[in-house]
Amino acid sequence: MPHSNIPVITIDGPTASGKGTVAHRVADHLGFHLLDSGALYRLTALSALRRGTDMKDEHALAKVAEHLTVRFNGGHIYLGTEEVGNAIRAEEVGNTASKIAALPAVRQALFGLQLGFRETPGLVADGRDMGTVIFPGAKCKVFLTASVEARAQRRYKQLIDKGFSANMDDLLEDLQSRDARDTQRAVAPLVPAEGAHILDTSEMTVDEAVAKVLGWYAHS
Ligand code: DC
Repeated sequence: MPHSNIPVITIDGPTASGKGTVAHRVADHLGFHLLDSGALYRLTALSALRRGTDMKDEHALAKVAEHLTVRFNGGHIYLGTEEVGNAIRAEEVGNTASKIAALPAVRQALFGLQLGFRETPGLVADGRDMGTVIFPGAKCKVFLTASVEARAQRRYKQLIDKGFSANMDDLLEDLQSRDARDTQRAVAPLVPAEGAHILDTSEMTVDEAVAKVLGWYAHS
């Protein structure tokens, strides 16, 4: 199948909107591959934090992104040989990821890597700019969102379940500043792609959200 004919569903939205869970479930249902693009920014952040890279040095950070030795395997994420699925979910890593994601050279360094995930029979791509920048020709585009309170509750539960400590007020503040950074940056800001279906999941179960996306895809 020509590469450009491989179907792509893009699911973009703010942090902790539930798009990761929905993207996983939709990909499982269709037997599609999954691109968790946020994980690539988090992996770059984790790698840079560990190396002590200067967070103001755009060129050095882009080099870190370019040389990531990342492998996704059955829900596990490896950096080199180390499983880092939990480590990249730490708040410090997420905040750093949001900061370095504003740097054009870092985004450029991760561009080709993301395109490579488009393989038969199809791809579900989860992120901020999947429908606007990486896969603008996608068959089905979704912008998934939820109120900041609903998202803070979800993130709180996620962190506690993973054994991290969490504080609701700090989380709300963090989410708001991350939203501001992700939506106001000059390069690839978080905005719904043209033609995207908008899905507010504040009052929705995961099953309902998944059914909506599958319905849109079926009719796309
Ligand atoms: O989805 P996430 O919380 O794992 O993403 C972590 C950070 O990475 C997020 O704050 C913004 C950035 N990001 C991005 O700029 N573009 C993407 N496609 C995905 C994530």
